[in-house]
Amino acid sequence: MICALLGVPYEDHDFFQEHASFATRSDKTAEQQQTANAALGGYLARLIQKKTEEPAEDVLSDFAARVKDGDLTLPEATLLAMILLIAGHETSATMITLGTALLLENPEQLARLQQIDNTTDAAGAVEEILRYLTVAQFGQRRIAREDFEFEGVDIKAGDGIVVPLPAGNWDPDAFPEPEKLDLTRKATHHHAFGWGIHQCLGQQLARIELQVVYGTLYRRIPTLRLAVDREELTFRPADSLAAGIAALPVTW
Ligand code: HEM
Repeated sequence: MICALLGVPYEDHDFFQEHASFATRSDKTAEQQQTANAALGGYLARLIQKKTEEPAEDVLSDFAARVKDGDLTLPEATLLAMILLIAGHETSATMITLGTALLLENPEQLARLQQIDNTTDAAGAVEEILRYLTVAQFGQRRIAREDFEFEGVDIKAGDGIVVPLPAGNWDPDAFPEPEKLDLTRKATHHHAFGWGIHQCLGQQLARIELQVVYGTLYRRIPTLRLAVDREELTFRPADSLAAGIAALPVTW
């Protein structure tokens, strides 16, 4: 979906997925990360330049026109494209695979989802899965703008703060029995998309993608199941940008 919006050929996704994941993994050296970033940046810069000559109806063509008009430099447009591609691909893709594994482990919730026949309940189910999984697993970083006290701790203006989204989304005061997946829970106050002015730019797109996927996949393929034992599933490295499964073999 994000490839179609940006105008990035989907057949290149093995290339950009691999290079994007390098940039966030601690088992790669700084040199390997720089090489991966440069390869991804070079690829997108070439695509933007190509779209100056052959524009289409997509975001990269819009960036190309702005570069041509002098509103953006090519490095700025390339960086924006990298952010959108990585942020828009990893997170949504992982929500689909991890969400599928979660639903297959919770057959009564899956049955409930398959019976949903209205958009309000379908949207509610997606919010609960977003809360439960909180795939953007690392704390968002902020700087305090003023002095304040939080739970007995004095925070001074200028202090760095790490806000762990999973902890907030599993706070029993906000979500009773947070470890329970309950698709009828009213979970819209979750923080899976962060909070404040840097809250996820693509959240409405992500919601629509997930409403379509969850609302269609398990209804259209009701016999969907894991093709391997649960224990055989391999997960992404723990320090990946988005938590997730490396591969989800399924059958039906
Ligand atoms: C289920 C899917 C997604 C999840 C869970 C997710 C999660 C997040 C989170 C937690 C942040 C940080 C927010 C903060 O600092 O408060 C973020 C930022 C961002 N996301 Fe997403 N995201 C998703 C999908 C997308 C998509 C589809 C796009 C692009 C179309 C996107 C583009 C961005 C961008 C550009 C930012 C940076 C915003 C800024 O710093 O101002 N995300 N996302």
